This record gives sequence, C-alpha cells and structure tokens, in this order.
Amino acid sequence: MAILITGGCGYIGSHTCIELLAAGYDIVVVDNYYNAKPEALRRVQELAGKSFPFYECDIRDADGLRRVFREHAIDAVIHFAGLKAVGESVQKPLEYYDNNVGGTVTLCQVMAEFGCKRIVFSSSATVYGMNNPSPLREDMPTGAVTNPYGRTKYVIEEILKDVCVSDPQWTAVLLRYFNPIGAHESGRIGEDPNGIPNNLMPYISQVAIGRLPQLSVFGDDYDTPDGTGVRDYIHVVDLATGHVKAVDYALGHTGAEVFNLGTGVGYSVLDLVKAFEKANGVPVPYVIAPRRPGDIATCYSDPSKAQKVLGWKAVHNVEDMCRDSWRWQSQNPQGYGE
Ligand code: NAD
Ligand code: WQD
Repeated sequence: MAILITGGCGYIGSHTCIELLAAGYDIVVVDNYYNAKPEALRRVQELAGKSFPFYECDIRDADGLRRVFREHAIDAVIHFAGLKAVGESVQKPLEYYDNNVGGTVTLCQVMAEFGCKRIVFSSSATVYGMNNPSPLREDMPTGAVTNPYGRTKYVIEEILKDVCVSDPQWTAVLLRYFNPIGAHESGRIGEDPNGIPNNLMPYISQVAIGRLPQLSVFGDDYDTPDGTGVRDYIHVVDLATGHVKAVDYALGHTGAEVFNLGTGVGYSVLDLVKAFEKANGVPVPYVIAPRRPGDIATCYSDPSKAQKVLGWKAVHNVEDMCRDSWRWQSQNPQGYGE
C-alpha cells in the first residue's frame, strides 16, 4: 500500500512523510524543489531510518507523473504541492492559478488514468474568508476570499467536490489547516522560508537568532483582547498525524469530506511573542506597525469534526510549538543552507 506525497520535501510534507513511515505506510515523494532543498529529504530518511522513492517532477508534467504511477501501485495521494505566499499571489496570479489549480487538474487526470481515486488535499482556513465568525466550522460558507492564493484553495476544493459528484468511486479529503508552526522535536527538519519570512513564527525565530533586527506587529487596534490579531497556531507534527488519520479515512470512504485541522484555541501576536520569550529565554524585540492589508482580526477553528470522525486531536501546546520552532532555528541558523 503506497501513498504518493506531492510537495513532500516542503515544510508540512516532510513532517508528514515521517509520520506516515512511522505508521507503516510505504511512500513515494514527488517535488520540483521550487521551495525545498534535497537536504530536507535526506534528513527525513535519516530520522525515519528508511529510504523511499523520490521523483524530481513538476505536478503539471503529466508524463512525469505517469512514470511515477507506472512504476508504483499508488493507493492514495496526499497533495501538498503548491505555491503559498499570499502577497506574491497578488503580484503573480497567473503563476498561482497555473501551478495550484492547473497542477491539481493534471494530477487528478493522471490519477484517474491509473484508477487511483483517493486524494487528501492541503486546503486552508483562508477559504472561510472575511465574513465568518470564529470558531470556524466546516459547514460555514466559503469563497469570500481576498487574494489569488486563497482563491486557488477555494477553487480546488470546488473542483474536487465536482469530481466526487461525477464519479462515486472518488474520495477527496479536504483539510483546512489553520496556522502551522513548530518543527520536528529532533530539530533536524523545520520551516525554511526563502528570503524575509511573511509568516509570524519564522519572523519571530529570525529576530531571536539575530538575522532580523525586530518584529513589526501588524496592528494593535483590532477588536481582540490585546488589540493584535488572533490565530489558531497548530504544531506541524500534529498536522502531520492529522494526515495519517485522513489517509486512513480516505482508504475506507468515498465522496468529498472537509475537516478543520486546528487546536480550537486562539493566541494573539503578543501572546505568541511572550510565549516564545518564556519558553526559550530569548528576547524578541518588536515595534507596533500599521495593519497588514487583507488581515482579519480573529481566526480560529472548531476542530470537533476531526476529533469525532477521524479520531484526531492536536496534542502539542503553544510552549511546545515555541520550543520546537526555536530548536530548529537555533540548530540551523541558515535553514538547510545552500
Ligand atoms: P512548502 O512550500 O514548504 O511545500 C510545498 C512543496 O511543494 C515545496 O516543497 C515545493 O517545492 C513543492 N511544489 C510547489 N509547486 C510544485 C509543483 N508544481 N510540482 C511539484 N512540487 C511543487 O509549503 P507548506 O507550508 O509545506 O505547505 C504545503 C501545502 O499546504 C501547500 O499547498 C500550502 O498552500 C498548504 N497550506 C500551508 C499553510 C502554511 O501556513 N504553511 C497553511 C494552509 C495551507
Ligand atoms: C499571523 C498573525 C499577522 C507577520 C497566512 C495565510 C493563510 C495560511 C497561513 C496558507 C497576523 C501577524 C505576521 C509579522 C505580524 N497559509 N504578523 N508580523 O496571515 O494568519 O495566515 O498563513 O494557507 O492563508 O494568510 O499568518 O503568520 O502571516 O500572520 O504582526 O511579521 O501575525 O498580522 O495577525 P496568517 P501569518
């Protein structure tokens, strides 16, 4: 029983490979190294104590994917591959639609050719858009998204639902992640963003290590307890175990099903800064800056459906997340290096 992981060299994919191997699954990984380095995969194999087939392949390359499916009996696909920078998607919408939407369509076409009709997809809390109150539930309306990246996630969800309607043999498990942070507790793998980070935790870590002078807190006048934005941060290893449960589910069900993967707890920007300083004993200098366009005040999940249906629950707390992010950053100040 082999699971194909697209984008398996990336931040969430690399952690998921380890949990799938630990659960006894055989895996095959595809990545085009657009936002990842071979060193990540080498460390995954080292941590897991196992090797597995890897293909340097773009998911828009149908013939490249056909080769993978010809050479391995794939039972299900976990589909991480995609571009994910919100700001960049505003500048380069066509690249985002081509890579994320076009890539998913090509992947599903090749899957269907080979009779593999089970997919677990990396969606995002961003599909809930601006108008829903937290805690966010899977049955709330989606689509009022404010940027092309978020729209690719919304459109792909709709495409996968259509595919499941068209052919009752298909299964699509749509996982809406909240804000993944943290790293494997070994400190060997973690998030390695290119250039200056867009997201809060990698920014905090790079300030703490001295690569960046200070954090800009984007707005302290939101309608939240301390005025700064509130998010549902989830440890990447919890997210990874959520994928193992989602694959288990996909192998036994048909149709499209949506799950939030979050903790259900919201922390503000300043909560996270303080938690990081306390967990690690390092200062994180910050200044209050203007709001970032497109941000909302509060976003956290109702994670009860995943608990009830998948039997999954996040087990790491904010201290674990801060400690593990810092272990990765401090042991690998330049990430995976060149
Ligand atoms: P990542 O950039 O670390 O991983 C994505 C991987 O996909 C990279 O290794 C990249 O090289 C690869 N890739 C991109 N385009 C490809 C293509 N055309 N063909 C083959 N490989 C390709 O990102 P991540 O944080 O691990 O996110 C994984 C998925 O989860 C993405 O789809 C992302 O949109 C989604 N997601 C991420 C977050 C987050 O905050 N990290 C939140 C919600 C959803
Ligand atoms: C978190 C909070 C910022 C940086 C994004 C995507 C979302 C999903 C996860 C993929 C907010 C504040 C941040 C900084 C700050 N990705 N902040 N200073 O915006 O909740 O979600 O990543 O699907 O789609 O939109 O995450 O980490 O960027 O921000 O004050 O330097 O931290 O304003 O309140 P966000 P984030």
